[in-house]
Amino acid sequence: MTATERVDLAVADLHPALGDPALTSMNFLNEVSERYPAAVSLAAGRPYEEFFDLAAVHRHLDTFHRHLVDDLGHRPEQARRLLLQYGRTKGIVHHLIARNLAVDEGITVDGEDIVVTVGCQEAMFLVLRALRAGPTDVLLAVAPTYVGLTGAARLVDLPVWPVAGGPSGIDLADLAAQVRRARAAGLRPRACYLMPDFANPSGVSIDTAHRRRLLELAGQEELLLLEDNPYGLFPVDDGSRPPTLKALDTGRRVVYLGSFAKTVLPGARVGYVVADQRVAGPDGRVGPFADQLAMIKSMVTVNTSPIAQAVIGGRLLEHGCSLVAANTRERSAYTRNLRHLVAGLARRFPPGADGAAAVRWTVPAGGFFVVVTVPFPVDDALLDRSARDHGVLWTPMAHFYDDTAPVHALRLSVSAVTPEQIDVGLDRLAALITDERARRAG
Ligand SMILES: Cc1ncc(COP(=O)(O)O)c(C=O)c1O
Repeated sequence: MTATERVDLAVADLHPALGDPALTSMNFLNEVSERYPAAVSLAAGRPYEEFFDLAAVHRHLDTFHRHLVDDLGHRPEQARRLLLQYGRTKGIVHHLIARNLAVDEGITVDGEDIVVTVGCQEAMFLVLRALRAGPTDVLLAVAPTYVGLTGAARLVDLPVWPVAGGPSGIDLADLAAQVRRARAAGLRPRACYLMPDFANPSGVSIDTAHRRRLLELAGQEELLLLEDNPYGLFPVDDGSRPPTLKALDTGRRVVYLGSFAKTVLPGARVGYVVADQRVAGPDGRVGPFADQLAMIKSMVTVNTSPIAQAVIGGRLLEHGCSLVAANTRERSAYTRNLRHLVAGLARRFPPGADGAAAVRWTVPAGGFFVVVTVPFPVDDALLDRSARDHGVLWTPMAHFYDDTAPVHALRLSVSAVTPEQIDVGLDRLAALITDERARRAG
């Protein structure tokens, strides 16, 4: 837009979330990568594209169609209507999601407690919209946190209070303290959002004993937990996976957020939420929280594309509803890349003469992300310089904190690159770090 172009609306007159860093973050990162298309991207948390297969999409659709007719007994015209017409707000693959959760996660859930959504992002939005009842409501979230959560909270005017993550994944003493502090200030903490498995961006996972303690605390404090789990299926080397919070949840404390973006196809835009909490409606009838979420969904996206759901459903059916089984190749590619990245960092940043390292990094047990700590603050200007002068992209960790304090760390992602690209990217990152240290020293 030019300076002389006529302006019809002022952003100051639109929702206050517009222009907020949480909402502009994703656009900024996309813009940088568009401006420097030749740069190696260790920024994108996208799944590996080499396994995408258009022919398989057609097959999945056919598989689900046959399932409707052969397994569920629909007449051909009913099956056609289910796939092509407006449909059930809560979705048409809920029974397969319930089976998937039983097979892969040991979670027992009634299909009626599930809402199939337009990606996990919509699921987060629906839950936050429902929970934000008034101006005293706040959301707790383990920091650093996924920016899509912070942005969704902004859009529903729900303040986000950080809870310390730390090496255990969630600092329970801090969680209890934040709950108390909020209540003492007359506020109502509605829930705590977290990713117990290979979190984005920290890569940290919570061990089983700590999960149990968290559930106990949530029970004592009567707090809901929003468990987001897009990366749990990707442990290094098929390593063991602790039970999800939802699998351990005997008191309906956990709202479980699921995504098929990383385990099937991001382009399908299908996710879901398991919301089995009982809610008494205005008529006194008790139903699942999922029904309230569906009411909101009916006014946001009406229903999730049945064609997209069918693609997901077909993929599930072709693997006995196990995404663990469906993602063998993906798991080994991510394992290979994570190993390669960590080894590459160790080669390029050996400890100094005193044994201390100026550059440090995490070694996650799975997932897509490694956090690199450097001896200077990492901001958007440095990312721009990195892309322009060195041809490598990454994500400033500052984007995952809901304040303006400087952060001396960046996030690298291994999911959408080859080992060769990792090598090139790390060489360029090392050059950037050398330059930046020299610039600051001189
Ligand atoms: C932690 C987390 N939650 C949710 C999402 C969004 O998932 P979806 O693509 O299904 O909307 C992402 C995507 O990167 C994510 O990292």
